[in-house]
Amino acid sequence: MTSAFQAVPIADNVDWVGAIDWSIRDFHGYLTDRGSSYNAFLVRSDKIALIDTVKGAFADELFARIASVVEPGEIDYIVANHAEFDHSGALARAIDLIKPEKVFTSARGVEALQQHLGSLPGLTAVGDGETIPLGDLSLTCVETRLCHWPESMVTYVPEQGVLFSQDIFGLHLASYERFDDQLPLELLDREAEKYFANILMPLSTFVGKGLDRLRDLNLAIKVLAPDHGPIRRTHIQRIVEQYARWAQQPRRNKAVVICDTMWGSSDLMARAVGEGLAAGGTQVRMMPVGKSGCHRSEIATEMLDAGGLVVAAPTLNNEIFPSLLDVLGYLKGLKPKGLLGAALGSFGWSGEAVKDLRDLLTDMKVELVDDDPIRARYVPDAAVLAQCRDLGTKLSAKLKAKFG
Ligand code: FEO
Repeated sequence: MTSAFQAVPIADNVDWVGAIDWSIRDFHGYLTDRGSSYNAFLVRSDKIALIDTVKGAFADELFARIASVVEPGEIDYIVANHAEFDHSGALARAIDLIKPEKVFTSARGVEALQQHLGSLPGLTAVGDGETIPLGDLSLTCVETRLCHWPESMVTYVPEQGVLFSQDIFGLHLASYERFDDQLPLELLDREAEKYFANILMPLSTFVGKGLDRLRDLNLAIKVLAPDHGPIRRTHIQRIVEQYARWAQQPRRNKAVVICDTMWGSSDLMARAVGEGLAAGGTQVRMMPVGKSGCHRSEIATEMLDAGGLVVAAPTLNNEIFPSLLDVLGYLKGLKPKGLLGAALGSFGWSGEAVKDLRDLLTDMKVELVDDDPIRARYVPDAAVLAQCRDLGTKLSAKLKAKFG
């Protein structure tokens, strides 16, 4: 009987044996509206190695795909490139089923896996740059610290030119198409950008160092196999160049305006700022938030290359409107660098929100261009809206001067 779940060859004696998650929509706060995949791989030579596992709930799918190629008990080694549960959740069950001779991971990976899963039989630290011989194929492990976690490493099969890059170069997309050239390039670009912005932006310095390390090794990569999304066999250079660019957080004359509103006043003020920005020649992304507005991870994606951030919100019960706190808390953690910005808003009785928003932006190291912040009591009149538009024009001029 043919198993429902089959392995997919990605190179000679190298197979994808991962799992497709069609349902996931929230990946620790990131809107994964196209689902995801947890990629795992088999490398078969005299010795057989399983590279990474999958999220715990998908262990049976992993085991079924493995069994379509080899008996799980024939596997000699497991390599754990990354300890996060989307790749290690099935590891304890995999060890139980396979009973591997060794489970290789980085030195920091030993500690991280034990902290997640308790003691694991066969757990073995592999040195940075160390090669594990399998026969006519081999595995070279290279540490890529903080891409994504401190223990992260990648594994390379030099004889086949296959790089298992764990989170690096991944994207969240559930699909039966396993390869990049089977999917629209625009879709790959957008989802890769979203992934970088939401997962790797705060670590962009380390991503840059990781890329330098891989470049220095002069790897002849023919197949780039990340732990999420399609495997690249065609657009490899494209994603490497995109990462090199994104790691610099290249900003341009573009502004993101985020707002929420109770009765329309802060929204009106935000739109007036947007008019001024656009009139000055800035590309503007108006991103209302709240229940029917933009998701925080879509805003984060736009922030990957925006030079400006404007926040408009009402004061609710002496506090910043909650939807803005959610988005700004998320953005602050992503550490966008070098932004210009402003905060403004409406109020009824007190109006603390604008000051608190400014403090939040200052904490994010945003350079504020509104020395005297605009606050409207209840409803902005024509004079206030004109000030808002002027603020947009002023910010636009500063963005142009800074980013061209
Ligand atoms: Fe896909 Fe950092 O885990």
